[in-house]
Amino acid sequence: MQRLFITLALGLLSLALGACASQESRPAGSVAEAEPPELILVAGASGRVGRYVIGHLKEQGRSFRSLTRNRDTAIERWGQAYADMNWVEGDVRDAARMQEIMAGVTAVISVVGSREISGPNSAEFVDYGGIVNLVEAAKAEGVEHFVLLTAIGVTDPAHPFNKATKGALEWRFKGEEHLRDSGLAYTIARPAGLVNRPAGEQGLLIEQGDNWRPLLRSTLSRDDLAQVLIECLDNPGARNATFEIANDPTQAPGDWRAQLAELEADQR
Ligand SMILES: NC(=O)c1ccc[n+]([C@@H]2O[C@H](COP(=O)([O-])OP(=O)(O)OC[C@H]3O[C@@H](n4cnc5c(N)ncnc54)[C@H](OP(=O)(O)O)[C@@H]3O)[C@@H](O)[C@H]2O)c1
Repeated sequence: MQRLFITLALGLLSLALGACASQESRPAGSVAEAEPPELILVAGASGRVGRYVIGHLKEQGRSFRSLTRNRDTAIERWGQAYADMNWVEGDVRDAARMQEIMAGVTAVISVVGSREISGPNSAEFVDYGGIVNLVEAAKAEGVEHFVLLTAIGVTDPAHPFNKATKGALEWRFKGEEHLRDSGLAYTIARPAGLVNRPAGEQGLLIEQGDNWRPLLRSTLSRDDLAQVLIECLDNPGARNATFEIANDPTQAPGDWRAQLAELEADQR
C-alpha cells in the first residue's frame, strides 16, 4: 500500500515538473495566435448562381454571409428554404456599406453581375465599380482569398456578347485586373453560357488563356459552377489563377478537382 502511494506521488510529481518544463521551454511570445474563424462572404448570393453557392456552403456546414440588395425578394425568389441563409443587405456600389459588411470576413466569393446594359446598375458600376469596392473592403479587412466570377471572352472586345452589351465584358475584365493587382490571394473563374442543370451530369473542361471561340456554344451548369467556386478556396492549384470553364461530356465527372490542382498561376 505504502509502495503504491509512493509510486502515485512520484508519478504526479513528474507530471507537474513536465508541465512546468514545457511552459518554461516555450520562448516568450511564441503562443500561437488563434486563426480567425472562417467566414465566407457570398456577393450575389440571391442570384441564380449565388443560391447554389450558399446552398452548398450550408450543406458543407461552413460559415457564410449572404449579400443581397433585398432579403425579402431573395426569399420570395427561392422559397422559405432560403430564409435562414445569414442574409445581409447592401449594394456593391456603396463602398462604405461593403466595408461594414466585410467585418470578420476571411474569404469572398463574388457572383455579382449586372443585368442592365445602361444606367446606374450597368456593368461599369457593378461588374467594375462594385468589384473595386468589394476588393478594397477585402484588402482593408485582410481577407485571405477572393474568388471572382466573370465570363469567357472578357479579354477580347470583339466578342459578340461584348458588342451586344455595349462593352460589359470590358468592364468585367477591368474588374478582374483590379483584383489581380490588389495583392489579395485570388481565383478568377470565367464560365461558358450558364444553364440550370443539376451538377455532376457531365464532366468539366477547365482551360486557361481565354481561347473563347471554340467555347462559344458551350454551356455550364450553375450547380457545377457553384461547387467549383467553393473548391477554389481550398485547392492550392487555384491560387492566383484565372481559368475558363464549361461542361464537357468527354471529361469524366469529378476529374475537375485534379484539373484545378494543375492550373498555372497568372504571370504579372
Ligand atoms: N448568364 C450567363 O450565361 C453567363 C455567362 C457567363 C458569365 N456570367 C456571369 O455570371 C454572373 C452570375 O450569373 P447569374 O445567372 O447568377 O446572374 P443573376 O441571377 O442575374 O444574379 C446576379 C446577382 O448580382 C446581384 N447584383 C446585381 N447588381 C447588384 C448590386 N448593385 N449590388 C449588389 N448585388 C447586385 C443580384 O442581386 P439582387 O438580388 O440584389 O438583384 C444577383 O444576386 C452574371 O452576372 C455574369 O457576370 C453569366
